[in-house]
Formats: sequence, C-alpha cells, structure tokens
Amino acid sequence: MTDPQRPGSDRPAAGIDRRNASARRGLFITFEGPEGSGKSTQLKLLGKRLRGSNHAVLETAEPGGTPIGVQIRRVLLDAKNQELSPTAELLLMFAARAQNVDQWILPALASGKIVLCDRFTDSTLVYQGTGRGLGAEIVYEVDRIACRGLIPDLTLVIDIDVETGLARARRRNERSIDPETRIDDQSVEFHRTIRDAYHRLAEDEPRRVHLIDGSRPENTVSEDVMAQVIALLATPG
Ligand SMILES: Nc1ncnc2c1ncn2[C@@H]1O[C@H](COP(=O)(O)OP(=O)(O)OP(=O)(O)O)[C@@H](O)[C@H]1O
Ligand SMILES: [Mg+2]
Repeated sequence: MTDPQRPGSDRPAAGIDRRNASARRGLFITFEGPEGSGKSTQLKLLGKRLRGSNHAVLETAEPGGTPIGVQIRRVLLDAKNQELSPTAELLLMFAARAQNVDQWILPALASGKIVLCDRFTDSTLVYQGTGRGLGAEIVYEVDRIACRGLIPDLTLVIDIDVETGLARARRRNERSIDPETRIDDQSVEFHRTIRDAYHRLAEDEPRRVHLIDGSRPENTVSEDVMAQVIALLATPG
C-alpha cells in the first residue's frame, strides 16, 4: 500500500512540494528489482548512454556508494552475519543511505547532475518492510530522518522471475571473490515475496515506478529503460 503520509508518493501529504523538499535541479533515477534481474547492468548502460548525450551523471549503489557506505555494506552482505537482527539491518541500510544522500546524492542533484542509484528506499521497503515483516511505517519513519524528503523522480523495476534471477546472480557470484551472498541465500519463497512486493509498488505508484521485463536481452531492456528516461527528460520540471 502507498503510505499517504509519505512525501513524494503518488498521494503526497498536503503542502509538500517534492522538488523543494530537496532544493535540487538534477534528476534522481533509481533501479530496483529482485536479485540478478540486471539492475547494475542496466544502470551502467544508461550511464554510458546519458554521458554519450553530454549529460553529467553520478552513478552510485546501495548499500554502499561512499567509502563509509562500502564498509557498512560488508557487514550487511557478509554470509557469516546470519544473526543480524531485522531492526539492525534496517538501521545499517539507512546509515549507508544517509551518508550517500548527504555526501554524494544531494550535492550532485544541486549541481544539476542526473543521479543513477542502484537500489534505494524502495529496496528497504520491499526487503525489510515486507520481506522481513517490519512493515512500511517504520521504513518511512527512518527514511524521513535519513533521506530528508528525497524521493526518486523515476524508479525502474527490472523484473525477472525468481528462478532466472537467482541463477544469474549465482553464476555471477561464482566468478567473484567477494562472499556477498547473505541475501541471495534466502529461500525461494522469500524472493517470491520480494518480487510480488515490487509489483504492488508499481501498482501503487504508477507515475514514479515502472516495471521493465528484464528477461529479454540486455540491449532490448536498455531500450525500454531509455524510453522511460527520455519521457522523464521531456517532462517540464
Ligand atoms: N538481460 C540479460 N540477459 C542475460 N543475462 C543478463 C542480463 N542482464 C544481466 N545479465 C547477467 O546476469 C547477471 C546479473 O546481472 P546484474 O549484476 O546486472 O543483476 P543485478 O540485478 O544487479 O543483481 P543483484 O541483485 O545481485 O545486484 C550478470 O552476470 C549479468 O551479466
Ligand atoms: Mg547489482
């Protein structure tokens, strides 16, 4: 469900102007979706295309992004940390996010850049709010403190069926030396809940959140991503 109290959602709280909330001139685009759907691949392709059209772009990722965020990310994704409590996980996610918002994202937006972020608050809403059962309210409560009203202008959910996404992510992780597999190791049922929650988010916030079928070849997916971004760029600020 969309939280009617959440500034910047499709049903914003009265009197809150989403652009003034962060006093920004650039555009904030986030990539979301289940594990292995192709978010990072599409973010990089979009960054390349936008730079090719002379846009100033900042690419960042969550959890992580800043050097401090990268240290927090190690704790969150380390397969050894199975005992991490849901509330601690939530606060660590937002600690990394607050650092990213303050250090990189808001300054980049203020200077007119297009900021591309690999996961943002919607991930926390879906994974911790729904997946871990903490509920949306607590996620939005911490979001208000950590992100200070920053809501993406456009959120692209790269969608994939759970089995295909997990198989892609596992193949990629086998080639990597980093044991960032704690969340990938959750049950298939958990990942189905996550995918369903993304579908509901797209239904609840149709202006901001768009589902893109990630099962097709990378370049085909990228065309759909670009079409959404072109539409956003053509929208009067
Ligand atoms: N459209 C595609 N078709 C086939 N393989 C793809 C496609 N897009 C990405 N891949 C491959 O699937 C793997 C996962 O892609 P990627 O890392 O971009 O996904 P992700 O959504 O960022 O994953 P994670 O949720 O783990 O961050 C990579 O090895 C990537 O090369
Ligand atoms: Mg990724």
